[in-house]
Amino acid sequence: MAYETLIVETRGNVGLVTLNRPQALNALNSTVLKELKEAYAAFHADEAVGAIVLTGSERAFAAGADIKEMQPLQFADIYKSDFISGWDEVAKARKPVIAAVSGFALGGGCELAMMCDFIIASETAKFGQPEITLGVIPGMGGSQRLTRAVGKAKAMDLILTGRMMDAAEAERSGLVSRVVAPDRLLDEALAAAEKIASLSRPSVMMAKEAVNRAFETTLEEGLRFERRLFHSLFATDDQKEGMAAFVEKRKPAFTHR
Ligand code: HXC
Repeated sequence: MAYETLIVETRGNVGLVTLNRPQALNALNSTVLKELKEAYAAFHADEAVGAIVLTGSERAFAAGADIKEMQPLQFADIYKSDFISGWDEVAKARKPVIAAVSGFALGGGCELAMMCDFIIASETAKFGQPEITLGVIPGMGGSQRLTRAVGKAKAMDLILTGRMMDAAEAERSGLVSRVVAPDRLLDEALAAAEKIASLSRPSVMMAKEAVNRAFETTLEEGLRFERRLFHSLFATDDQKEGMAAFVEKRKPAFTHR
């Protein structure tokens, strides 16, 4: 399929999506949303793909929602169409998604990175929620996901002042899982995704579901949910294979990949 705002390819068992609107620092407009949903759907339908990497350019992962597209919008229209709610579908991807972030990840760009399962950042990455400087607030999950990721103090600081934080601060505060040299970013993210894609898919998808449940429920319910998923994996041949391979000191050959 031909995309206007994305480059979509597969690398081994990994689906790679590169945001590609260089003239607007990858600002997220309605075409990006539509195409990202299509690209994710295609990767979900592709049995060979076990994980997805989402990246941007060296200069910008994404500098936010497209301000020029939003500028003329009126309340009644965006309320009626539930503007931006389409991003929920992106956030609900069932296969793991790794954000590989270099340069600016601002506003909707930071929010899109946070919709991914984890973020690997280049040393050049800059994260922020500058919406307040435009007279609005985060609208694609920033006030909720950033607060859960970094805690109230840091989230308030970033969201109320609109300042950016660099990769080191983002790693210290738990927003990103790893920081790597700029020229290592894509390789590192692809290697992590390839590792995930090599594992038993039901266990990978359930692990993702279980961690995400931690943000939705009580500890008691979350522990029960985890335990039930854990039990259910004993119904898979991959559990038999994974444990047999360990005991026999060999590599597992998982069926469900
Ligand atoms: C539309 C954008 C854009 C954006 C950059 N551009 N960000 N266009 N929407 N979010 C465009 C610029 O207009 C410019 O186009 C080109 O990209 C290069 O940007 P410059 O500003 O010239 O680059 P630079 O001086 O290096 O500054 C980089 C920057 C700055 C600091 C990232 O571009 C910036 O502050 N961008 C906006 C960041 C922001 O406020 N994001 C939040 C958006 S609101 P031209 O044609 O002039 O060359 C949001 C809400 C999300 O995300 C939730 C609801 C949807």
